[in-house]
Amino acid sequence: MLECDRQSPTFKSIIGRHTLSSSSVAHPLTASGAKVLSGTCRVPGDKSISHRSLLLSGLALGVTRISGLLEGEDVLATAAAMAALGVPMRRLEDGTWEVSGVGVGGLRSPDRALDMGNSGTGARLLMGLLTSHDLTATLIGDKSLSSRPMNRVLTPLGRMGLKVLAAPGGRLPLTLKGAAMPLPLTYELPVASAQVKSAILLAGLNTPGRTTVIEPEATRDHTEHMLRHFGVQVEVTPSGDGNLIALEGQQELIAADISVPGDPSSAAFLAAAALIVPGSDLTIENVLISPSRTGFFTTVREMGADVSYLNERQCQGEPVADIRVRHSALKGVTVPAARAASMIDEYPILSVLAAYAEGTTRMEGLKELRVKESDRLAVMAAGLMSCGADVEELAEGLIVRGRSKTGANGVGLAGTGPIQTHLDHRIAMSFLILGLGAEGPVTVDDGTVIATSFPNFVPLMRTLGAQIDDKEAA
Ligand code: S3P
Repeated sequence: MLECDRQSPTFKSIIGRHTLSSSSVAHPLTASGAKVLSGTCRVPGDKSISHRSLLLSGLALGVTRISGLLEGEDVLATAAAMAALGVPMRRLEDGTWEVSGVGVGGLRSPDRALDMGNSGTGARLLMGLLTSHDLTATLIGDKSLSSRPMNRVLTPLGRMGLKVLAAPGGRLPLTLKGAAMPLPLTYELPVASAQVKSAILLAGLNTPGRTTVIEPEATRDHTEHMLRHFGVQVEVTPSGDGNLIALEGQQELIAADISVPGDPSSAAFLAAAALIVPGSDLTIENVLISPSRTGFFTTVREMGADVSYLNERQCQGEPVADIRVRHSALKGVTVPAARAASMIDEYPILSVLAAYAEGTTRMEGLKELRVKESDRLAVMAAGLMSCGADVEELAEGLIVRGRSKTGANGVGLAGTGPIQTHLDHRIAMSFLILGLGAEGPVTVDDGTVIATSFPNFVPLMRTLGAQIDDKEAA
């Protein structure tokens, strides 16, 4: 078996970057326009699939090679946590990650706290794995993650045998003790959450008997797909608007190489930039287009966006395409609440597009946005208003009346700053994209948070013609 090559300079620099970032100094960025965006580009690997590829390959028998892994802070935190739990892994010079799985039930106690950084997905999915391992671990995170609710996973996982030794108010830092004899569970999700579903399924892997999750609304299904990829039998039965998902515990996972497709949530920022900047015609290659993730593209098409999927193909059972986006005049729409799960991370950038659209965009059924990396309803409303947009914050939604005050550029959005990003990568990127078409420069207080999910966002945007500077506007 491969040794955990922690001394290799590449592994150290990758994992070390994560450790440093939690203490990194805020760094303002200013966007002040863009040239036409054209040609082809790629976005980093899908964040959800990247987390799952490390967690599941770590439990498989044999060596899994992962190509296209997102090397963003969130995923690196999961890699570091799995390494600390005894999973040997290394990053090769060509960017491929090799993970030597320890088998279901094979994780060992870590000798330090597991720093999950900013990552809700990493923290919650890992809690699922820990539930059915007889070990104790402490999870810590940054200020944003430490304010996010964990009871949504602790409650069902507690019924499977997870003990919480220390948890002020069900939030991180948390010290957890997994069960020596975990119990299977049948659980109906009270919130539409792929993270909660996945945490329970992962706990079920080392639990004797049948673990069942009932999701009243369908959520992203990457865990189910990837479990099958590793040879696990998972039953998925449609039920109402959602699914019943069941697996028998203690099946073996067999190592199987993974190629991670581009992240549609990251692609949404590039697509939005192309829609805003006149004359743009951009193709984003190799993007995941799972129906559980493409609500944003469905919605912008309804708003009048010229978006097409080219070269559609399959990548380990998941659909992938090149997405071509051309600058388009947009109109406001009502986004059905039932679509929320398929675009839950895209509402910040959608609300920016809504401010550029003609007419009113209503977004409802978004209570979950209040407990993401920041309270995204409040933070977007405040930021959009400071750019002069007409926004109404609802208890569970947002209304944006686009182009209500038409200014010099025919849009009526002014430069502003610094926008408070509250350690939220998607808030930072959303307002930098807004700044590409506003009448003046838009500054965000901290661009370092973007490394959470899209580490090359700024250099890529600059290559494509965006003007983004490392300073506050004068
Ligand atoms: C994710 C699920 C979503 C999403 C998050 C990633 C996942 O959260 O917001 O960025 O990988 O399972 P919820 O499942 O809590 O809605």
